[in-house]
Amino acid sequence: MNKTFLITGGAGFIGSHVVRLFVNKYPTYSIVNMDALTYAGNLENLKDVQTAANYIFEKGDITDEQRVNELFEKYQFDAVIHLAAESHVDRSILDPLSFVKTNVIGTVTLLNASKNYWKGNMEGKRFYHVSTDEVYGTLGETGFFTEETPYDPHSPYSASKAASDHFVMAYHDTYGLPVVMSNCSNNYGSHHFPEKLIPLMINNIKNNKPLPVYGKGENVRDWLFVEDHARAIDTIFHNGKNGASYNVGGFNEWKNIDLVHLLCNIMDKKMGRAAGASAQLISYVTDRPGHDLRYAIDATKLNKELGWSPSLQFEEGLEKTVDWYLNNEEWIKHVTSGDYQKYYQQQYTKA
Ligand code: NAD
Ligand code: TYD
Repeated sequence: MNKTFLITGGAGFIGSHVVRLFVNKYPTYSIVNMDALTYAGNLENLKDVQTAANYIFEKGDITDEQRVNELFEKYQFDAVIHLAAESHVDRSILDPLSFVKTNVIGTVTLLNASKNYWKGNMEGKRFYHVSTDEVYGTLGETGFFTEETPYDPHSPYSASKAASDHFVMAYHDTYGLPVVMSNCSNNYGSHHFPEKLIPLMINNIKNNKPLPVYGKGENVRDWLFVEDHARAIDTIFHNGKNGASYNVGGFNEWKNIDLVHLLCNIMDKKMGRAAGASAQLISYVTDRPGHDLRYAIDATKLNKELGWSPSLQFEEGLEKTVDWYLNNEEWIKHVTSGDYQKYYQQQYTKA
């Protein structure tokens, strides 16, 4: 079936994998990628699909109402898959307001445009909001987040995502906007900006730089291969229930310090270093304020209702990821020049 999609944030980490999957898998869909190309957005991430007949890039900021309306007018979208966001917790601690702008105001701007353009004809339309498990707050040593877990965000990032989730559901309840939403655990894979744990550690190990582990490294995250997340978004977009939310996760919990050791071991082998050499770089640094102890997703609903499950074992996915970073030095060079250096100084060169 022909459909025209607006995918926001398609030049970022997860967005680029979603764009790639939709462009390649659905030749009858037209995919319009709207992205402001912030520090986190990079069109190099989409080199392999940029000339596809069913793909168009439109530079634009989701908080710019006029630009958003112009694109709705021009393309008459049937569907929105909304990924554009400020996405890094540490940056949200440095500058919360930019998170409110993009994540809250940007989302409401897109919801408004969808409501206005689909008014009177919501049949076959769908607004898909991509969110995070961080809205649920933190777990203790046991238990899992389900779709019924009450929201309890602790960082400016998760608070802004929680607010955006509430607006999405409010537009469904108040205006009958057809929406679907997913809350996913930590992703890893290629094209991941090296401010986040896994690519930052790979990059620093490669360059023999200190590996900054926050606190005691005891915090736990549930890691999912990014292509499995993109597959989940495809499944939920096509088969998810109107007004529903789905948790997406890897059933794959790791303490940060154990994960950093695993990465060091993989890198020692790949770089021909003596066993244990990279682990010497580990450096415990001041903990992140408000640092959530543990995230763990119960993705049973998605598995039972829609048949999705993760496809890759973590060690295999991590090795693929390391190989991608080692084979894409130019990409790393480009994204770590400029703003990245300033951010790195500010974040890591503390007393
Ligand atoms: P990212 O930071 O890598 O990419 C964000 C993209 O959005 C970039 O291309 C950036 O240029 C674009 N963008 C930012 N502000 C914009 C604006 N105002 N207008 C238009 N474009 C703008 O983020 P990501 O890790 O790919 O995350 C994508 C989405 O998935 C986010 O909504 C995030 O909250 C969610 N999510 C991420 C993870 C994760 O582990 N990375 C897990 C769960 C959910
Ligand atoms: P991150 O990749 O920023 O994802 P999130 O905070 O959204 O889960 O961080 C993952 C975990 O790694 C988190 O517990 C914080 C920790 N961390 C470090 O220990 N050192 C670092 O330099 C970074 C970026 C993160």
